[in-house]
Amino acid sequence: MLSIGRAKASISLKIRKKQSIPITKRGLRLGSGLVLFAFVVTHLTNHALGLVSLEAMEAGREYFLLLWRNALGTTVLAGSIVIHTAFALYAVYSRRRLKMSVGEALQLILGFIAPILLVSHVLGTRAAMQIYGTDDTYTYVLLALWVDNPIGGVRQASATVIVWVHACIGLYYWLRLKTWFRRTLPWLYGLALLVPVLGLLGFIFAGRAVGRLAAEDPGFRLDIIIDNNAPEAAQVAYIYQLESLIFMALGAAVVLTLLARALRLYLESRKGVVRITYPEGRVVSVPPGTTILEASQMHEIPHAAVCGGRGRCSTCRVRVSGPLESLPEPYESEQKVLRRVGAAPDVRLACQTRPNKDLSVTPMLPPNASPRDGFAKSAAMQGQEQEISVLFADIRGFTSFSEAKLPYDVVFVLNRYFRSMGEAIEQAGGQVDKFIGDGIMALFGVDGNPRDGATSAIKAAQGMSENLDELNALLKDDLPTPLRIGIGIHSGPAIVGEMGYSHAISITAIGDTVNTSSRLEAKTKDFGAQLIFSGRVAELSGLDSNTLRHEEIQVRGRKEPMQIFVMDDAKDLKTLVGIK
Ligand code: FES
Repeated sequence: MLSIGRAKASISLKIRKKQSIPITKRGLRLGSGLVLFAFVVTHLTNHALGLVSLEAMEAGREYFLLLWRNALGTTVLAGSIVIHTAFALYAVYSRRRLKMSVGEALQLILGFIAPILLVSHVLGTRAAMQIYGTDDTYTYVLLALWVDNPIGGVRQASATVIVWVHACIGLYYWLRLKTWFRRTLPWLYGLALLVPVLGLLGFIFAGRAVGRLAAEDPGFRLDIIIDNNAPEAAQVAYIYQLESLIFMALGAAVVLTLLARALRLYLESRKGVVRITYPEGRVVSVPPGTTILEASQMHEIPHAAVCGGRGRCSTCRVRVSGPLESLPEPYESEQKVLRRVGAAPDVRLACQTRPNKDLSVTPMLPPNASPRDGFAKSAAMQGQEQEISVLFADIRGFTSFSEAKLPYDVVFVLNRYFRSMGEAIEQAGGQVDKFIGDGIMALFGVDGNPRDGATSAIKAAQGMSENLDELNALLKDDLPTPLRIGIGIHSGPAIVGEMGYSHAISITAIGDTVNTSSRLEAKTKDFGAQLIFSGRVAELSGLDSNTLRHEEIQVRGRKEPMQIFVMDDAKDLKTLVGIK
């Protein structure tokens, strides 16, 4: 109890410690994306005025320039382009594996294609204006794109669609976690379709108007070239040179990122591995620094991750057990999400937690969790009655052992025992509730369903019995006689919730089910058995109990006699149907 309490308190203290860097990182990434999105929306809205007339488009451009073509607008826009590109490269660098969902892959690929298609347009308009004083009016640009270089026009239109889809995917990942998202979805879909369609139609309408002007008036082209101070041939060649340089810089950035990533993976692989244990006892090995979510994905373990590992949705959260204090401290951004769902101190976001030591984790949400699940506070946090399975275990004759030994030896043996039993419980998917003297109380099914809870409890009993044999073999020189234990398990309704105060708080259960489990454990002495579980446990876990010894007993506090199953050795559960 004390050791768990201290570990939780230690984590709790760590969580409270503030770290602000990643909040800035996430804010910068989102902020830069929103600035670019605002630029695209205002640009497309300006295009859409082409549906009214070329003059309306030009008039709208004045407002557009007012917004973006000043020192502040230019700095914010250019800064956002640099920041957003840097984050895209960093995302590639930091990923342990490049396999990702279709949406994420599409967003990333479109994000890299967009600049390739847009560079020449930006150089021909904004850069030409800055360097040569070219007035890049709509009429001038449409003459160049619609009339003189239709392929360039198609490329520009494609770039618009690519940028728009990239932005919409990013916005979707962000907004779908908002509580109002579902309600407003039809409107958002409408806007996502309307803005680019109207913008492109405006581009087409205005392009055709410029085409007509050029066809009707032979002097139109020359007037525009002179009036708008179009670059001369040598200046155009220089712009092309700039374009080539930018392409090379972009290519080099991508190649360097991939090389840096390969180097990092190589260096990490030399640092050894971290072993992560999942429920059902599955153990995976990953390089230190890999997130728990990446570990699940690398080993094809289904794991909810609604926001794609961006640390926003909380659906990836796991209950962590093991050397908790060795985990890197959670950043403020992670704390914020955990606070939102009222997570217990031993809960972490799998996508943000990078263990450097072996540990066990239990995902708290099913792999198919929805964004809405990410907002739901855990039932245990709120406190509620639910059907769970409760296991009590106690060492037989430990008092006489402790009286004959030095305190150091007693603590040593007890700690080895607690670790051994705790691992069996956690590997089966349960959680140690508390250690009471030499006794253990564990809960099963708190975050799952009663059926899984009962099955896990049975598996835990089997695992505890096996671990006990190993422990006895290990400690044979330290023990006068092998340790023996009694285990009682009962399933039923209990009030589950976080109880305690300040750091002395933990998820626990109270009620008749807890008392009955404890009494079944005490009954193992009367029957000289290692395990007693109730009929309800057998029923829920689907055990083939026909071959088991069963009894009816009177349990204190219950009116009706209770059916129980008695096993001399819990390892025999292995041979029963339903337990693997
Ligand atoms: S995957 Fe969304 S918070 Fe971890």
